[in-house]
Amino acid sequence: MNNIEQVRSDFPILNDLIYLDSASTSLTPKQVVEAMNEYYFRYNANIGRGAYRIAIEASNKVEESRGKIAKFINAKENEIIFTKNTTEAINTVANGLNFEKGDNICLSNIEHHSNLIPWLNLKQKGIKVNIIQANSEGIVEKENIKENINNRTKLIAITHISNSIGSIQDVEAIGKIAHENNSLFLVDGAQSLGHVKVNLKKINADFMAFPGHKGLLGPVGTGFLYLKEDISNELKTINLGGGTITNVEEENFSLENVPQRFEAGTLNISGIIGLNTAVDYINKIKVSNIEKHCAYLTKKIWDKLSKIEGLILYGSEKNTHGIVSFNIDGINSYDVAKILDETRDICVRSGFHCAIPGIKHLNANGTVRVSVHYYNNMSDVEKLANSTEEIAKVFSS
Ligand SMILES: Cc1ncc(COP(=O)(O)O)c(C=O)c1O
Repeated sequence: MNNIEQVRSDFPILNDLIYLDSASTSLTPKQVVEAMNEYYFRYNANIGRGAYRIAIEASNKVEESRGKIAKFINAKENEIIFTKNTTEAINTVANGLNFEKGDNICLSNIEHHSNLIPWLNLKQKGIKVNIIQANSEGIVEKENIKENINNRTKLIAITHISNSIGSIQDVEAIGKIAHENNSLFLVDGAQSLGHVKVNLKKINADFMAFPGHKGLLGPVGTGFLYLKEDISNELKTINLGGGTITNVEEENFSLENVPQRFEAGTLNISGIIGLNTAVDYINKIKVSNIEKHCAYLTKKIWDKLSKIEGLILYGSEKNTHGIVSFNIDGINSYDVAKILDETRDICVRSGFHCAIPGIKHLNANGTVRVSVHYYNNMSDVEKLANSTEEIAKVFSS
């Protein structure tokens, strides 16, 4: 299973192109697609409702997936709330917490918009947002956090791995600072899950937001929120309806337990079933092997790109995981990505990567972003580096 070429054969799309944009969404292995198809072809029914066999089978599969995810991040089953993506998980917290006028929230300036806009939106309610500047390597320094919090800091919300330059935050240490200050702690795990070990017992976050469709190799339209059991009653449900109540009378209703009270309406059942298979797939490869392989490829990309004349690399080689951001002097990042796609079938992301303040902080007007997963190999790295060098040469001559 750990043979990269064997793993690549599970991703037929790789026959046609070089995919270096897994930070946006990863490719999906055949096994995950087959699990979703099986649901549609054999036991396509709604969950938590029907008494007939296929409805029970679908319900059990969804709960099996919840259990597997909980184990994967060292949490309890009732701490996992299914969402459609990371963004929805963060919004569930931002709109469900009880803030009082004068409270403040602490964030960094390199957050993805999904961990920025939901908090900025609370300014209308009189909530202050303190933005901490990351250092030149994209690290949010502990001293800087301590200086920016006070007894009205309700929450510190930080990304684990930056999606623009790949810098990794010491979330365990930041969590300690938050809790010593009696603040809640939210981690955006969009880029870390599946890429590095995520252990909620160690990180001790109160909330952690995750995608199913990135590092986990699950389907699009899947994600989840980790909500620490001890504080789950602090969060109001924002979406109410079918599935969220235990009883209704004409003018009253009583809420279901957590997590069901946060999962209103019909869920993405096939996606969650695909996620179940995705976790098995990742467990077979092992996160430690993914981390090692992606660190190796990242280093090789960094080494090769750094030798190209006129190329600017962002962040720090020492502190990046799976993501390399760069520009070719004098060329728009969009044009570089377009040329790589149209002339070499190489898919990379360009622009601001939904992190406009963070990219502007680098004094860049967008970057080209390369991001890897376990299915990438050295041939991908070499083709990327050679093609980038050719583009740089053409535009500098
Ligand atoms: C750090 C980070 N946070 C949040 C998101 C949003 O994720 P989703 O598309 O799952 O909502 C992304 C997506 O790229 C991300 O990289």
